[in-house]
Amino acid sequence: MDKIAKTLSSQDLINLEEKYGAHNYHPLPVVLERGEGPFVWDVDGKRYFDFLSAYSAVNQGHCHPKIVNALIEQSRKLTLTSRAFYNDSLGVYEKYVTGYFGYNKLLPMNTGAEGVETAIKLCRKWAYDKKGIAEDEAKIIVCEGNFHGRTTTIVSMSTDPDAKSGFGPYTPGFIIIPYNDVKALEQALKTPGVAGFLVEPIQGEAGVFVPDEGYLKKAFELCKSQHVLFIADEVQTGIARTGKLLACDHENIRPDMVILGKALSGGVYPVSAVLADDEIMLCIKPGQHGSTFGGNPVAARVGIAALEVVKEEKLAERAGFLGEIFREEMRRADSPMISLVRGKGLLNAVVIKPTRGKEAWDVCLKMAENGVLAKPTHQHIIRFAPPLVITEDQLREAIDRIKKSIHSFG
Ligand SMILES: Cc1ncc(COP(=O)(O)O)c(C=O)c1O
Repeated sequence: MDKIAKTLSSQDLINLEEKYGAHNYHPLPVVLERGEGPFVWDVDGKRYFDFLSAYSAVNQGHCHPKIVNALIEQSRKLTLTSRAFYNDSLGVYEKYVTGYFGYNKLLPMNTGAEGVETAIKLCRKWAYDKKGIAEDEAKIIVCEGNFHGRTTTIVSMSTDPDAKSGFGPYTPGFIIIPYNDVKALEQALKTPGVAGFLVEPIQGEAGVFVPDEGYLKKAFELCKSQHVLFIADEVQTGIARTGKLLACDHENIRPDMVILGKALSGGVYPVSAVLADDEIMLCIKPGQHGSTFGGNPVAARVGIAALEVVKEEKLAERAGFLGEIFREEMRRADSPMISLVRGKGLLNAVVIKPTRGKEAWDVCLKMAENGVLAKPTHQHIIRFAPPLVITEDQLREAIDRIKKSIHSFG
């Protein structure tokens, strides 16, 4: 396989994906073959700063040796048992993660979308078993502009036509309200049968929308007053990305359920999880939910290593400190193309004002030329989310390259 790849040019490799793969993505024309820390290299040996971090999965940096070693060591011993039997890693992992985040229990899955699906099922089951909502009447409040994944149930609650259109019939049971709108939540909570409020503490895919300070706390209190579960989708914002372990920590709230994915493995393996206390988690009984790969020994060992790295390397503190530098520098960039800079920690976005026919996509192509990889989201927004292990000097070098790219358009 490697031999074949070596004889193929970057264009050949792109053509292969075009010809034999589904066209469900529109990648930047860069073909990567290696990564280390904040860097990736293409097949021609060109080095780039990775400012996407696989949508915030690679918080710990590419191929972190400690996480990769955990993967190698465990995969030499035992990779998969299914949950039909116990294994010597899952319980150790569950104890570690629940202690780390302060919850009674963890339910292991693989992808972020599976984590969200799990939280929806847990919320509904809790609604019927504990809250006394009539069968099939449970409703979950979600926000406009949300992104929780790609399954049919999850796109049912989406307001993004690209994500949703053409995939009906849709799963009922969701109430959609504007994001960052306490009044709208207060109103929606009056609807009979409301069981949960599912929210991203910062809307990442929508373009890094940071809600007003106090919004999450107020929303949490409103949910509490109505005996409604506050469910935080921290798949993108969690695990140090925004300058705290969880983005909800900025407002000192403890969600009833937390959904984690992406950086839970440092991007080494698909690992996701839902955290909750017994009252909620024990509503699901044997046979009612599961996954062949969820909680496998490799995922468990990788997950522990990934979270240890976050603590050992103080990644939350780093993200907080470096994020301030990034936003300050970008706000000072003085370009007519930059209409707004926003974000928290190292989850940031620059809103691009199209200038002389050039837009965010062109800026991303120019940045790639200058050795920085980032991707537009929703046409005019560029998300900047480097691995949290990036040093201050590296960050400043990358910022210079980003500014140079933007300034090249005037
Ligand atoms: C907030 C949020 N939830 C869920 C998901 C889905 O995760 P996955 O792509 O691993 O299914 C994403 C992915 O970007 C996300 O940003």
